[in-house]
Amino acid sequence: MNVSELLANNKRWAQQVSEEQPELFATLSKQQTPKYLWIGCSDSRVPANEIVGLLPGQLFVHRNVGNLVKHVDFNCQSVIQYAVDVLKVENIIICGHYGCGGIKVAMENTNAGISDYWLRSVKDHFWFNQKELKKLDSDEDRLNRMCEINVIRQVSNLSRSKIVQTAWQRGQQLHVHGWIYSVNDGVIHDLKVDRHGFKDEEDIYEPDNDS
Ligand code: CO
Repeated sequence: MNVSELLANNKRWAQQVSEEQPELFATLSKQQTPKYLWIGCSDSRVPANEIVGLLPGQLFVHRNVGNLVKHVDFNCQSVIQYAVDVLKVENIIICGHYGCGGIKVAMENTNAGISDYWLRSVKDHFWFNQKELKKLDSDEDRLNRMCEINVIRQVSNLSRSKIVQTAWQRGQQLHVHGWIYSVNDGVIHDLKVDRHGFKDEEDIYEPDNDS
């Protein structure tokens, strides 16, 4: 399929959506009011809107290799700030996926170029969790468990971020969820690591209430 076919696909899609929901584009042209922020992997097998059945306008999305939330990543942090402070989303979903190539690279001694810098924090968590991972039977099991550990880590990073903490401090409703998607069957699993306030976090990460 060449790119001109993609443009032809788009025309058909726009026509079909207009027929099924005549008001949708007119409504969306005025504003967006998504209730969810999705932070997922760039992997082409994990298209955010499709797998949770949401239409344009319903999901604010940030994707990068390995679905990482880093405090010094101004790209990701800008998306989070806009979602939380302006759009006032009530839920942030961090969704990883089993068999993630980014996580796999971080578990190997390969030279992946610039990705090695991006994925270094994953490699560190691979190291920290060696004891648990060595008990597993196969490389596939170790990779998949590491994909879960990475999501749990990112939920923690996000919950300790300035933007989320400030939102909780002012009493804003904001839930952080950790999910993982299976590319084998299309099913999302809830890792049940939700955070929705300071009580889920260690004191050291709480901002001073007087500041
Ligand atoms: Co991935």
